[in-house]
Amino acid sequence: MTNAVKYASQRVAYPFFIASAALFLLQILFGLIIASQFVWPTFLMDTLPFNVGRESHLNLLVVWLLLGLMGASYYLVPDECETELFSPRLAYVQLATLLLAGVGALTGFWFFGASRGKPFTEAAMPWPWLIALGAVLFLVNVGGTILRAKGRAVQRPGAHSHCADGV
Ligand code: HEM
Repeated sequence: MTNAVKYASQRVAYPFFIASAALFLLQILFGLIIASQFVWPTFLMDTLPFNVGRESHLNLLVVWLLLGLMGASYYLVPDECETELFSPRLAYVQLATLLLAGVGALTGFWFFGASRGKPFTEAAMPWPWLIALGAVLFLVNVGGTILRAKGRAVQRPGAHSHCADGV
């Protein structure tokens, strides 16, 4: 693992991948439960009605896809830009923000019946705001990394970086 990264800050990708993989497994679990309810209609019906299992299945899908994409970006962007990530700490804050939004939305579905009813956007307020904040923090971090690479390319015209192309 020691040589797997060129820049130390690429390691922030790992917690994103682990969280993404865990949520993917949870999505499959909910998929299996709601599929079972088609076969045995009373299976877990009192504990986890079909609509609650279905919205859990769909929202977990959205969050694991996002975390996987973000983790991949945090791995690739420093490599392509030949610079450390703008802020590894911001990446951890961003991961915590999205996980908190996910836990909040799921808790709302399971224990408070908090759902807006539309597929993929069932999460009740304020969780969508936290998801939006997580997305903005991600863009700031990736954008900051790219801008820094462009700044360095101006200072070192001979150096090669994919992020600096077109400067
Ligand atoms: C063992 C694995 C899985 C099982 C048993 C399963 C089962 C189900 C069931 C029973 C539904 C509800 C269908 C309905 O409302 O009538 C559903 C919906 C859905 N699942 Fe899964 N699922 C699995 C894995 C996945 C995966 C891996 C993805 C995507 C990467 C996924 C994406 C979706 C989507 C997008 C819907 C909504 C479809 C729609 O409303 O048209 N599922 N799934």
